Amino acid sequence: MTRVNLQSLTRDKSFYINSMNEYQYRATKILEKINELASISEDEDCIIRRFGTEKFMEGANKVLQWMKEARLQARIDNMGNVRGKLFCNEEAAKTLVIASHIDTVINAGKFDGPLGVIMGLDLIEHLIQAKTKLPFHVELIPFSDEEGARFHTTYLGSTTVAGSFDKNLLEKKDSAGITLNEVIEKIGGDITKLPGDAISQKDWLGYFEIHIEQGPVLYEKNIPVALVDSIAGQRRAEICFKGMAGHAGTVPMNMRNDALTCAAEFILEVEKLAKENNIVATVGRINITHAATNVIPGEVVCSLDMRCADENILSSLYRAIKNKTEVICLKRNIEIEWNPVQETKPAVCDKNMKELLTESIKDAGYELVHLVSGAGHDAVAISKVSPVAMLFVRCFKGISHNPLENVELNDIAAAILVCDNFIQRMINHHNR
Ligand code: GLV
Ligand code: MN
Ligand code: MN
Repeated sequence: MTRVNLQSLTRDKSFYINSMNEYQYRATKILEKINELASISEDEDCIIRRFGTEKFMEGANKVLQWMKEARLQARIDNMGNVRGKLFCNEEAAKTLVIASHIDTVINAGKFDGPLGVIMGLDLIEHLIQAKTKLPFHVELIPFSDEEGARFHTTYLGSTTVAGSFDKNLLEKKDSAGITLNEVIEKIGGDITKLPGDAISQKDWLGYFEIHIEQGPVLYEKNIPVALVDSIAGQRRAEICFKGMAGHAGTVPMNMRNDALTCAAEFILEVEKLAKENNIVATVGRINITHAATNVIPGEVVCSLDMRCADENILSSLYRAIKNKTEVICLKRNIEIEWNPVQETKPAVCDKNMKELLTESIKDAGYELVHLVSGAGHDAVAISKVSPVAMLFVRCFKGISHNPLENVELNDIAAAILVCDNFIQRMINHHNR
């Protein structure tokens, strides 16, 4: 771990050595809770907590209990977000939201989402224990659906809190044919009350999210934390290739309408275009309808995920791959259905909050690393209504969306020091 630069600090050395031990103690408690949450999973062999499942709700209730134990005013809202609030004395004050998510991908790691949630809880507990006089309210929100592992759209939780939830999604079905509407009802939510779960624009002071980097830069540089400048925009689509199913033994190669070979050409074209233009693009899901060894694939459905920090480049490359796919389909005599699933513009972090976070990182003695996030975060949805800031924490070899995901205790301790600093700076800035 990169050590706190003792020379750059004004207090004497023993104070910081002792306080570093205190940070490590807090990091140990955070890791205990992260492990406890990780043990709540739909599958006992790996971590899965998809939005609205029984195990998801068990996890949400566990976090609710921790919030209540910390003496936050806590509840679960109509979209399954856990909401824990620490009120200041002034009722009309604005709110600083600290948040991340508790849903996971399938076969997830322990830290993507929960690190920011449990660290947020620790930061607020610390404010309570230190009897900090707050000039604003602080709300901790473990969002319910950032990954979109169940309905293949992201940010159901954070768009609800931002007041931009798209009601058209309520009829969307999961792989078992259950609609989002039904899931909300099952978890005790009321869709007519969703608008009331939004924080109105005038009440936002700011939004702060702590998250693992999910990439290798900090690991390579041997630095525990980084400042996020912006978050890449995303386009997601579902593409259905329709050919003609047939007998694998009898239809000659030049007389086939094979939907899978067409999809294969599309996938390689996506890779080529992304490499040539220095963006990232992924076909992560592919489904062959009625797949069998001796049947020529008649229908194939693929996902597409494209990301770039520049909106103009992203939208023109998205159009380019759509046009190219249509040409491939025409050549192969395959019908195509192109269904857009998601369009998220890049989000830029707030200049003032970034300045305060920069000072907090430097004061803790760490080199300032700026990063653009290729991963999506709830901060994207919230950036439409509030200034946002994000701190990244190093993870092992940058591995994420994988059970090998790991964060060192000392890096969590380093991040706590930075975040305590940051919240104090937010308070000082507000009181000026
Ligand atoms: C979420 O982790 C995403 O970036 O897809
Ligand atoms: Mn995440
Ligand atoms: Mn993720």
